[in-house]
Amino acid sequence: MCGIVGYVGEREALPIILKALKRIEYRGYDSCGVLVQNQGEMMGHKEVGAIDCLISSLSKSGYEGKIAIGHSRWATHGAPTVTNAHPHLDCNGEIAVVHNGIIENYQSIKEGVLCDCIFQSETDTEVIPHLINICLKSKLSPTELHSGELNAMQVKEAVKEALSYLRGSYAILVAVKGFDGLVAARKESPLIVGVGDREFFVASDVPAVLNQTNRIIFLEEEDLVVVEKDSIYIENGGSEVKREESLIEWTIEDAEKGGYEHFMLKEIHEEPKAIRDTLMGYLTEGRINLGLDFIVDAESILLVACGTSYYAALCGKYIIENLAKIPVRIEVASEFNYSDFVLDGSKVVAMAITQSGETADTLTALKKAKGYGCKTVAITNVLGSSATRLADETIYSRAGPEIGVAATKSFITQLTIFYLLGLFLSKMPASVFAEHINELKRMPQIAQRVLDEVNIQKHARYLSKYEHTFFVGRGINLPISLEGALKLKEISYIHAEGYAAGELKHGPFALLTEDTPVIAILTRDDIYEKTLGNVKEIKARGSPVIAIAEEDDEEVEKYVDDVIRVPRTSALFSPIPNTVALHLLAYWTAKERGCEIDKPRNLAKSVTVE
Ligand code: M6R
Repeated sequence: MCGIVGYVGEREALPIILKALKRIEYRGYDSCGVLVQNQGEMMGHKEVGAIDCLISSLSKSGYEGKIAIGHSRWATHGAPTVTNAHPHLDCNGEIAVVHNGIIENYQSIKEGVLCDCIFQSETDTEVIPHLINICLKSKLSPTELHSGELNAMQVKEAVKEALSYLRGSYAILVAVKGFDGLVAARKESPLIVGVGDREFFVASDVPAVLNQTNRIIFLEEEDLVVVEKDSIYIENGGSEVKREESLIEWTIEDAEKGGYEHFMLKEIHEEPKAIRDTLMGYLTEGRINLGLDFIVDAESILLVACGTSYYAALCGKYIIENLAKIPVRIEVASEFNYSDFVLDGSKVVAMAITQSGETADTLTALKKAKGYGCKTVAITNVLGSSATRLADETIYSRAGPEIGVAATKSFITQLTIFYLLGLFLSKMPASVFAEHINELKRMPQIAQRVLDEVNIQKHARYLSKYEHTFFVGRGINLPISLEGALKLKEISYIHAEGYAAGELKHGPFALLTEDTPVIAILTRDDIYEKTLGNVKEIKARGSPVIAIAEEDDEEVEKYVDDVIRVPRTSALFSPIPNTVALHLLAYWTAKERGCEIDKPRNLAKSVTVE
């Protein structure tokens, strides 16, 4: 995920910025850059790859100055190249911007108000310095324009006006030639200010500055900030506001996890944002643009994947078949690779779902699908990964880097992509399509409500005492019960089996005792009564049952021992709240059992061997 850092004060800025970038390396990045400002000069350098390369390239640069900005980029718009790396400049090279987030309407800005500008990069960010340039010029008299000096008010107003053109999310830092300070702003992307002695640090993340100061101002939504070495000014909604400083007592390691005890918990808490970012990338003004027009001709879709990504694919089958009425076949990649599969690939689009883009079995499956003549698509979270190089086209999920071995936010963004795909391929009436889009747009809030309102820890304490469990569901929630079971076994080491609720009676009933709790997903879909019937059968065999059910389902509690209540959605979208609840359940159960959550035994984040 991109990281931004800035410094203004009395010390040499470059070493401070480089150290700050090193400290946020854990966020993941593919390229980086800095810019130092010294009176009339703007001196920048960018690299693809490690911050260490940037440090060694700059070791003899002689870049001196007391103001600097820096960036580590996790590519979203355009490949990881030097040109696409930040900072980005306006056409005169006088306004430099680093940005974290996604500008949704950058294309229409390029074609509209900036139609005369020449752009260097493929990024959404580059519109920002160009916009600031136009706004600044419109505010200055010819004398001011040529004086070469700018004051805080002029720069702040120009940035503010430029921001009014933007739709999407941003945390930005702006350095302007002739102005001895920095301007920063945030919307839906975090930004903090570190307060020192006659100096300020601005960063996307506390760890970037924690070795310099523990006095932190957490900026709020839509704050606009001007820092000069002796002053800080914060404005929101057009008026000056005061923000309290917090004294941070975290260790650096705590800070990397954003104050959460484990990356997995942090990443579950990032699920609402991950859904929102993924939607923002492909949904503009109620229209879906996946940039893959050839898939509309597909007569069928083949999905190949492993592990959690396979469960996302299983769910994807329900979603696409429900919305688009196109047949979907799914294969576990490692099985597909060595099977006598019969396929005429000319009308089939094969999609490989892999968060890392590096899973060996999935890559082999992608090659095999190509061998059948299928058009291929990679659905992945990692730009430039092997899957993207192998596939004809790529759809990126926008979960940001995931560090915990257990896939959480990457899974929920894969589901999000399947909703987008299903709707993109659908031929439903416009009004029904619009209803679905509205519901899809509600998903970040729905996920947030699970995080804010559901008390999972009580259920986790209960579950943590058992050694065997079943997770059951039906229909679109069968894959979610499989995912819930995988997550629990992976990190808590409790034996957990995911099953179709109607299948237990064909064998697993023999295992049901009072020591095998069953987690049953009981969303009120078309087969709710049948699933409830299955739950009654389970109860009759003595197993305790915890249901995951909607907040207003009063019927369910008559038949189960306890209920985890989640916000109500249509059945089609219920995998979103159910997933968040199950991810939390796995996390808190593993925590109760004192497991090493982020690095479970015998597992690796990306499995690059077959
Ligand atoms: O990177 P991928 O999505 O291809 O990884 C596939 C599986 O290895 C992965 O989903 C694994 O099952 C997760 N660790 C489960 O949490």
